[in-house]
Amino acid sequence: MPFEIVRNDITRMRVDAIVNAANNSLLGGGGVDGAIHRAAGPQLLEECRALGGCKTGEAKLTRGYRLPCKYVIHTVGPIWRGGSEGEEALLAVCYRNALAIARQQGCDSVAFPLISAGVYGYPKDQALRVAATEIERFLQEADMMIYLVAYTRDAIVPDARLFGEVAAYIDDVYVREHRDFGREARRSQYLRDGAPRGVPDPGSLFRRPHREDNARNETVFSEANVERLTALQGETPEDAQTRTAETFSEMLIRKLEEKGMSDMACTARANVDRRLFGKIRNNAGYRPAKQTALAFAIALELSLEEARELLVKAGFSLSHGDKRDIVVEYCLINGHYNVTSINEILFKLDLQPLGY
Ligand code: APR
Repeated sequence: MPFEIVRNDITRMRVDAIVNAANNSLLGGGGVDGAIHRAAGPQLLEECRALGGCKTGEAKLTRGYRLPCKYVIHTVGPIWRGGSEGEEALLAVCYRNALAIARQQGCDSVAFPLISAGVYGYPKDQALRVAATEIERFLQEADMMIYLVAYTRDAIVPDARLFGEVAAYIDDVYVREHRDFGREARRSQYLRDGAPRGVPDPGSLFRRPHREDNARNETVFSEANVERLTALQGETPEDAQTRTAETFSEMLIRKLEEKGMSDMACTARANVDRRLFGKIRNNAGYRPAKQTALAFAIALELSLEEARELLVKAGFSLSHGDKRDIVVEYCLINGHYNVTSINEILFKLDLQPLGY
């Protein structure tokens, strides 16, 4: 997984380089700066002294000394002064410069703290947005394992609106699924009157698929789903036969071609390692982990039906017994196709991320 948010103390990260949120003197301080200097030992300070400080937005390299990493890349984030003094641009350039140094040093892995989101007062959600945007941009054209290390779970503040919508959806669907024993009665009501606006009938949409009758699943969809289903059903019986006979890999490649997406763009969007993608492309029978299949469904911006179909070909189904599936379902239904934003929400909910 090229980009992962993890809960840890950055001084424990076994990576090629960790990034320090330093100050202009580079002579240590509190927060992550203090933790790194304490863990690295006095030689780090000695080397920093020789660097002659660091301008805000710039980055400088030292060795890691007693830390379990080869290098420390020191960068100085902007102090938040309300957002109208170029803070965002300065913070973005911290990530860019640190990543450029990591690449120059031939690092395969690097760990960042959330720069400026502590003492320097940068709003956590905006600091996360800048970090994610710069890391995603870098991974469009570079191979590296990048960790964003959250010292505490509340250090990560996802997009409030999306998080609120997802939490409400989980609550609604999850509670309904696990409270409503009269689900069959509800299903017949759905069959009679159709699904209420906005929320599909989970009983019908996510019944465990029986392979032989999967295509004939008699289900009640919202208008949008009916449209998509009709589109699918608009195909000829031969097309339908070919489609159902496709393997996961074949369907993935077909959707990639239909969307005109390159392998590189798809793996970056899906947060999937390029080598894994190569295995999937070169082995028609390859079946990935569920988190990878879900990541591709999102990255390829599939409809709910197409996503279900892709999952079945990998040997999985979306289940309302799994909160992560409910998050993905909500995002598929509502057109939220950013794997990084979804992973921020999954991190917050302490659920496994998408990708690999
Ligand atoms: N591991 C990972 N993250 C950590 C750790 C740690 N050991 N300690 C703190 N953090 C997190 C904080 O929770 C915050 O999310 O690092 C992020 C950055 O916070 P700060 O360390 O306060 O850095 P910053 O906001 O950039 O302020 C820099 O603080 O420490 C001083 O000398 C430093 O003057 C500089 C200023």
